[in-house]
Amino acid sequence: MARLKLGVLVSGRGSNLQALIDAAADPAFPAEIALVLSNKADAYGLERARQAGIATAVVSHRDFPGDKAGFEAAMDAHLDAAGVELVCLAGFMRLLSPEFVERRRDRVINIHPSLLPSFKGLDTHERALQAGVRVHGCTVHYVRAEMDVGPIVVQAAVPVLPGDDAHALADRVLAAEHRIYPLAVRLIAEGRVRVEDERVVVEGHAPDTAAVLLNPAP
Ligand code: GRF
Repeated sequence: MARLKLGVLVSGRGSNLQALIDAAADPAFPAEIALVLSNKADAYGLERARQAGIATAVVSHRDFPGDKAGFEAAMDAHLDAAGVELVCLAGFMRLLSPEFVERRRDRVINIHPSLLPSFKGLDTHERALQAGVRVHGCTVHYVRAEMDVGPIVVQAAVPVLPGDDAHALADRVLAAEHRIYPLAVRLIAEGRVRVEDERVVVEGHAPDTAAVLLNPAP
């Protein structure tokens, strides 16, 4: 069966991209990365893509001052030329316009380092610590025009531990991100995910009905 063609958008270190590269290295994985696109020429994610022999493109927003439509048209041209069917935002630090998102409705996903709808935006780990939550986590969701909003595909929860600072907590969440992004892509590529009334339904998934994360443990 043909593998779903992914376009991964990165602005930085690209560790989630790496998780997708590693997953797709298995020929049984139902998706492949057709293109890695960055708005920053020095993003380390581009280097990861090159090392894996994946096509890359750079579209710098700085080449389109005050012209978001032009910036996004240039990105669209690269994504279309590569035959991209699903766009995966992986630490892509530009807000996409409603037009870009609508053109690819339910074909753009994002990973966010919190249990949405809590802690949208930046500095999620600092804010989680400040709020004193005992459970934190990460979310893969379909992208909508509003930032960090959209039907949720997969979430993972991790405990907040005594002595955690933002770095320690971020590391724990990031390890979970690297598990759920390939999982979400796999479910979508297998055609098991549909959006109904702005909520996700997953066909034939195997929930761990006994899973409870208690923190602190009893
Ligand atoms: C991750 O924490 C992701 O959830 C957020 O940006 C960060 C990107 O990290 N959207 P990386 O570039 O994938 O290492």
